[in-house]
Amino acid sequence: MDTDGRTDAATTMTAVRAHTRGGPEQLVVEEAPRPAAADGELLVAVEAAAITLPELTWPETWEVGGVDRTPIIPSHEFAGVVSAVGPGVEGYAVGDPVFGLVPFDRDGAAAEFVAVPVGSLAHRSPTVSSTVAAAAVLPALTAWEALVDRAQLGPGHRLLVRGGTGAVGSFLTRFGHELRAEVTVTVSSEDAGRRAVQLGADHVVVVPRGSAPAGLDGFDLAVDAVGDELPEWVYAAVRPAGGLVVLQVPPDAELVERYGIRSTFFVVEANQERLQELDALLATGRVDVPVSATFPLTAGREAFEAAAAPGRAPGKTVYVVR
Ligand SMILES: NC(=O)c1ccc[n+]([C@@H]2O[C@H](COP(=O)([O-])OP(=O)(O)OC[C@H]3O[C@@H](n4cnc5c(N)ncnc54)[C@H](OP(=O)(O)O)[C@@H]3O)[C@@H](O)[C@H]2O)c1
Repeated sequence: MDTDGRTDAATTMTAVRAHTRGGPEQLVVEEAPRPAAADGELLVAVEAAAITLPELTWPETWEVGGVDRTPIIPSHEFAGVVSAVGPGVEGYAVGDPVFGLVPFDRDGAAAEFVAVPVGSLAHRSPTVSSTVAAAAVLPALTAWEALVDRAQLGPGHRLLVRGGTGAVGSFLTRFGHELRAEVTVTVSSEDAGRRAVQLGADHVVVVPRGSAPAGLDGFDLAVDAVGDELPEWVYAAVRPAGGLVVLQVPPDAELVERYGIRSTFFVVEANQERLQELDALLATGRVDVPVSATFPLTAGREAFEAAAAPGRAPGKTVYVVR
């Protein structure tokens, strides 16, 4: 008998799935085969799974090596408890609270169970709620990889964060401050500006959507946390030989050359050491992780539609599965 009273023999589970490539309109709630914990994997009984809306536009969501993956299960940012331990896995037991990031070319956690390679998760402190852990994991790991691994941001560096109060933007602003950089953020409203100051921003520039700010230049590093088509003013804001990190689509090579800057695009991967550091940070209770809205798993596409709604509250949209 496993953690939620289903017999071990249960072979199916409830999941959100898409049988055809597309947007939220393709998502249905249905019975799906329950995965098993293969070599080096854990089967996790999902408690919470967060949404990154653009994941439905990412190629690896739908195919791997040109091979169609449908039906797919979205939502790679999860928290739950261990339901089964696969061969060769040590240090975990049934019932352990865990959280992590399922690789984007595998079935996600918008389901009752998810099979996860052991390297893609870590123990979760009992004081860290599954909703907070699921909402924080992707934005925090992405911000850390951008500022520390890719850009080696340091004290006194001038950092520009475009969209500094979104899910990823909030962690970029917070970590930039904690790394003692001089942090300038752009936001699209006064309200967001106040949140940016609370996160540690030194300077806030309100840039209504579609407009270009004046006088932003000489930055050592700019990170785009909006994810739309990157406007030229962001390239121009970086000093020659300075860095630009983008997260949704690779940057425009011509503009990179014209402004003589160094650019980076990456797709974040789980990292156990970072997950453990994140758990310790969240366990301090000092980090306010914004959650825009929560939905039961059975809400299916409604959660993705809410994540796309203009004017929605800041933060992640999260399925609360258990
Ligand atoms: N490469 C990777 O590994 C990776 C990992 C995570 C995320 N991402 C990408 O990073 C991007 C951000 O993700 P997220 O989860 O942080 O999204 P999010 O929470 O929706 O944040 C997006 C932010 O951008 C602002 N924004 C949206 N449209 C804008 C526009 N036209 N002009 C100015 N500001 C605008 C929003 O501000 P307001 O709503 O307040 O206006 C919000 O603060 C997405 O494209 C996502 O796919 C990539």
